[in-house]
Parts: sequence; C-alpha cells; structure tokens
Amino acid sequence: MLKVGVFGVGHLGKFHLNNWKEIEGVELVGFYDPSDAAAADIITKYQLQRFDTPEALLDVIDAADIVAPTNHHFELCEKAIRKGKHIFVEKPLANTISEGRLIVKMAREARVKVQVGHVERFNPAYLAIKNMPLNPMFIEVHRLAQFNPRGTEVSVILDLMIHDIDIILSLVKSDVRSISASGVAVMTETPDIANVRIEFNNGCVANLTSSRISMKKMRKMRLFQKDAYIGIDFLEKKTEIIKLKTSEDENAFTFDLETPYGTKTIAVSNPETKPVNAIKEELHAFIDAIVHEKPVAVSEIDGFVAMEVAHQILDKISNTSIMV
Ligand SMILES: NC(=O)c1ccc[n+]([C@@H]2O[C@H](COP(=O)([O-])OP(=O)(O)OC[C@H]3O[C@@H](n4cnc5c(N)ncnc54)[C@H](O)[C@@H]3O)[C@@H](O)[C@H]2O)c1
Repeated sequence: MLKVGVFGVGHLGKFHLNNWKEIEGVELVGFYDPSDAAAADIITKYQLQRFDTPEALLDVIDAADIVAPTNHHFELCEKAIRKGKHIFVEKPLANTISEGRLIVKMAREARVKVQVGHVERFNPAYLAIKNMPLNPMFIEVHRLAQFNPRGTEVSVILDLMIHDIDIILSLVKSDVRSISASGVAVMTETPDIANVRIEFNNGCVANLTSSRISMKKMRKMRLFQKDAYIGIDFLEKKTEIIKLKTSEDENAFTFDLETPYGTKTIAVSNPETKPVNAIKEELHAFIDAIVHEKPVAVSEIDGFVAMEVAHQILDKISNTSIMV
C-alpha cells in the first residue's frame, strides 16, 4: 500500500480526500491543515488523523498531496522533497518563477516524482480528441467564472487561465514567439479579467479570455486547423468536430454546401465522451507513475512551463494595463 497524506483540506482538498478513499493500493494516512475550523470538519466527517506539523505527516507517508493555497505550495513541496517524498501539487506549481524553478531543480536532484494538478488534461471532452491529428493554427478560449474569494491570493491568470495555457502548450508543438495582454483588477488587487494573445513560431495564434467576475460560467476552447473546427466544452464535457467529409466520417451527420469552389460535404460529429471523474483519474495516474514507473502525466516541467507563460502574461499586463 502506498501511504498518502493530504496537505490542505479546504474546498478542493475534500474532493481529493473522497477520491483517495476510492483508489486501490492507497492508504490515506492523515492530513495537515493549520486551520482548526477546516480540521474539525474533517476529523468528524472522515475520521482521519490530523497531524500537528507538515513534517510529522511527511515522516509517515510515501507521497504528499498538496492542496493548500498557491502561496504555500513552495514551502510544502520543499519540505516534501527534502524528505524524499513524491508529490502531487495542485495548479499552479508555485506562486513565483523562482519558486517553480527551485521545485524543478530539487525534484530532479532528489529523484522524486512530481505531478501538477492540471486537471483539464483528464477532462473527458479533451480526452475525446486526444487521438485526433491536431495541428491548430488559431485557438479561441473563454474561461469565465462567477466571483469567489477562494483563489484570489493569485491573479486570474494563475488561478484560471493557467488551465488553458497548459492545454494549449500541450497541443501546439512550437515555441511561444510573442505575447500581448490586457487585464483589469476589479474586485481584488490583481487582474480579475484578462485577454491575451499568444503567437507561436509556427504561426499559430491563441486568443484567451479569462474572468472571475462574470455572471455566467463558461469553459470553452475552439481549435481551428486546416481540415477541421474542434469545439471543446470543458464545463459541459462535450466535444464537437466539424470538417470536410472524408471516408472516416461514415457515422457523422453530413450536409452539402454549395460554394464557388464546388460542392463541399461537411461532416459534423460529437465524439463519445466517457463519464470519468477527472480528479480521480489524475490522482490515479500519479499513483500509477510511482508504482509502475510510468511517465508522469503532467510533470513539474509542464507545470513550470505553464507558469512561465503565465508570468510573461502578468508582466505584459503590469506594463500595459491600468489597474483600477
Ligand atoms: N485543479 C483545479 O481545478 C483547482 C480548483 C480549485 C483549486 N485549485 C487549487 O487548489 C489549491 C487549494 O484551493 P482551494 O480552493 O481548496 O482553497 P481553500 O482555501 O478552500 O482551501 C485551502 C486549505 O488549505 C489550508 N492551508 C493554508 N495554509 C496551509 C499550509 N501551509 N499547509 C496546509 N494547508 C494549508 C487552509 O486552511 C484551507 O483549509 C490552490 O492551489 C488552487 O489553485 C485547483
């Protein structure tokens, strides 16, 4: 049995606790959370041991699950790595670039596995297109949420947009050429809403909008490539593909379109999305990576690269935007 401890049992930490209980081969040993109020809830509801210090919990586990606020990720990762423990750390990997860089360096030296909680990689709507040949040249993303004080210790870029940055960096096989960005701090002291344009060396352009002050929720990514439009709805967990019909599209809904270039047959399909629990899948993948020596699904390098782009965006915003 692999012994796991959870660090931070707030909103997301509770989801992690529920999922750990269902993952085979894992013994949930206990948790550390400095808040008495958060801890009391867990002790009674989950009958789980609370540890007084992170070190005491680290001493009795093989792997640490860090679900504390982002500004505590570094100190907890550092403690875990010093004791040679594997780490699952929520996104973003860390608060600052120097913290992220140090985590990457220390993890490599200590040869511990680190997985970052970029959970959208396990979203069924994204998994549904993973085996498709993808070469997007234009990407349009909207991730909108209602205001919630949780997560506001960091900007909307590090809190929400980082999900899309990670997905885009995993899809576009080219380096970032330039970034332009605009953002406004409305409810907090850091940008709450932002629009960003990322240009890649291969010509791909990604246009991202993230907001945590919207009336409605939306998490949509639209990919445009030479032969297809692909719509990924991370919230509704649905995917739509619209393309010129080929022999592979036998089961798709088709219609003809008259154009000056002849009749084109368009195929519309909705690939099957499996009803998976993305959090359970990512935690499962982390355990698999440790037990079966598999590559980590979202490594500390992936987490760091996403952070690096997020910080470049923040620099652009602080240079160009009016913070009200
Ligand atoms: N992957 C996702 O989609 C997703 C969604 C929500 C949150 N998150 C991430 O999860 C983390 C936690 O977010 P949340 O919404 O659960 O926040 P939260 O405020 O609800 O909970 C955080 C908990 O951590 C505890 N804590 C504070 N300092 C700590 C420390 N030093 N050690 C251990 N615990 C500590 C707090 O007392 C609290 O109980 C953040 O990094 C956030 O970015 C990820």
